[in-house]
Amino acid sequence: MYINFWYPIVRSEDLGYDTPEKAMVLGVNLVAFRDIDGVAHVISDTCTHRGASLGGPWSGGSAPRLINGCVVCPYHGWEFGGDGKVKNIPSIGYGEKVPARAKVDAYPTEEKYGIVFAFLGDEPEETRPPLLELEEYGQEGWMANDVLVLDVPYYYERSIENGLDPAHNEFVHPTHGHSGINRDTYKVHDYDVEDHNQGWGFWFMHRFDGPPLPQKGHQTSKNTDTPWGDTQNKDRDVYAGGGTYGPNIMPTYINLTEDKMFRQYFFEQPVSEHRTKIFFLNMRNFLLDPKHNGPIHARNKVIAGQDIQILDQLYPELTPLSPTKEVLMPADKAIVAYRAWLEKFDNKGWRINVKEFNARNGTDTAFAIPCPDRRTSGNWVLEAMPLIKDREERKKIENAV
Ligand code: FES
Ligand SMILES: [Fe+2]
Repeated sequence: MYINFWYPIVRSEDLGYDTPEKAMVLGVNLVAFRDIDGVAHVISDTCTHRGASLGGPWSGGSAPRLINGCVVCPYHGWEFGGDGKVKNIPSIGYGEKVPARAKVDAYPTEEKYGIVFAFLGDEPEETRPPLLELEEYGQEGWMANDVLVLDVPYYYERSIENGLDPAHNEFVHPTHGHSGINRDTYKVHDYDVEDHNQGWGFWFMHRFDGPPLPQKGHQTSKNTDTPWGDTQNKDRDVYAGGGTYGPNIMPTYINLTEDKMFRQYFFEQPVSEHRTKIFFLNMRNFLLDPKHNGPIHARNKVIAGQDIQILDQLYPELTPLSPTKEVLMPADKAIVAYRAWLEKFDNKGWRINVKEFNARNGTDTAFAIPCPDRRTSGNWVLEAMPLIKDREERKKIENAV
């Protein structure tokens, strides 16, 4: 897991105007809330008074949970603004001057595509990756489904690698329209990878063989339950591909025909090494009537369920660092490209030292993801989470030398 990228925190529709939402991301608790103008903010969840959870259980009855754009700590009522600074400490009197150390980390936040995103890290604006731009979003001729959140019990890098894998479809997704392998001719076509034009990742397109034309009077295939009807039963090729943007965002393009396309975006929220929340945005440029949203949603859930049951049982849970621990094939080229980008992020010093973090977090230490203000000001109460310097240090830590 890495700091210094944009992570989905909560769906817009799930962030109310009078209650905060707590979320664990990169192993750390955060709290999201809206100010009096409805603008979303994301700050560290650990109160720097005596450690209560700002987004935790509230015993205050009908007293407001948010006051004057601040989230109220449920323990002694300290009021934290969207900038992370405490505005009021009730025990010394409302309006009294608060100490400089009465603050928590606050993260740059953007609400887009129906999702509240936060930039989790301390990299200055000039050098940090921007949030991915989706060129089709909101454009005429494109319809977006509501964001689907999948809460899955495995590591996000395993999840991303699965989405980049053109060799699993025929085996994991019998309803994708390519069920039934011809053992005499089947093989995964070669493909090229290239860097994404928005930087911070790579891109590939791959040709899947279309299934043969159905013979008259024969069962066509098992894929007639697709919401897009029988378009998959034509004798033609499907182009599909995708790539990554940062460690946790995966665009996927599926071109059923030249003018019928899905554009899917997986914004992944690593909760910990054992759990991920996938914020899945599906767009299409056909079947634009909203009445198709429900069936497409249901279909995507079925497909996701097929992946989930495989990924839930991968060993080891984390992606091996050493190439000697797996036997990769040419079809795994996109996975190799993803890992090459992760190495670049390692060498920026942005990878979290999860071993050290797990050994200390929550017992004698409450860690925080460092926010940009840490570069310019002191007086931080929580310890910044431990990071790994570069790939060489990571190899030593993971015994992969
Ligand atoms: S622990 Fe938050 S106000 Fe005391
Ligand atoms: Fe899949």
